[in-house]
Amino acid sequence: MKQAKLAWAITGSGHYIEECMEYLLTLENVDLYLSQAGEEVLKMYGFNIKEIREQMPVYRDKAASAPPVGLFYKGHYHTFVMAPTTSNTIAKCVLGIADSLATNLYSQAGKCRVPSIIYPCDVAPEMETTAPGKKKFMVYPRKIDLEGTAKIKTFEYTEVVESVEALIEQVDQRLASLT
Ligand SMILES: Cc1cc2nc3c(=O)[nH]c(=O)nc-3n(C[C@H](O)[C@H](O)[C@H](O)COP(=O)(O)O)c2cc1C
Repeated sequence: MKQAKLAWAITGSGHYIEECMEYLLTLENVDLYLSQAGEEVLKMYGFNIKEIREQMPVYRDKAASAPPVGLFYKGHYHTFVMAPTTSNTIAKCVLGIADSLATNLYSQAGKCRVPSIIYPCDVAPEMETTAPGKKKFMVYPRKIDLEGTAKIKTFEYTEVVESVEALIEQVDQRLASLT
């Protein structure tokens, strides 16, 4: 049987997307999944999907039934990481909605008891974030956004991280536990 891999989803959140990508590109045995907005936002932050594809398989959100999620049922993945995650995708995930590639991956990982590490963009009532072009600005997540983050922490097989440092630590720990 093939060695299991890490599945990593990028959604359309610019919040620390560059730092998440920088770390992700250091990893081996990763399949990268992009939400439709994730693909657009990545390009806005200067990433070239063709170049990323030279390093790892990249799955785009082009089909209604999210066919690649079947790979979870074949033991293809040991872990699912979704970082960064938009308010939109978190809101859907906590309602159990699976109508896009990213929300399907989270749902199917859970149904296959594959652990997920989730980095939501909304982690505090006031946050500094970075626009394309490196310009910093303040963002004020709403009550409903923060409730989504609180709710996803209660989900089974789910570890929620609130910073890039915590993300790297969790993923490193998970990978070390597998060897
Ligand atoms: C440059 C850019 C940055 C964005 N950053 C964020 C963000 O940090 N958090 C967020 O919730 N949405 C952000 N959005 C909006 C989302 O991309 C949008 O809500 C999208 O519909 C989310 O789709 P997805 O959850 O399927 O990826 C951003 C949009 C753009 C154009």
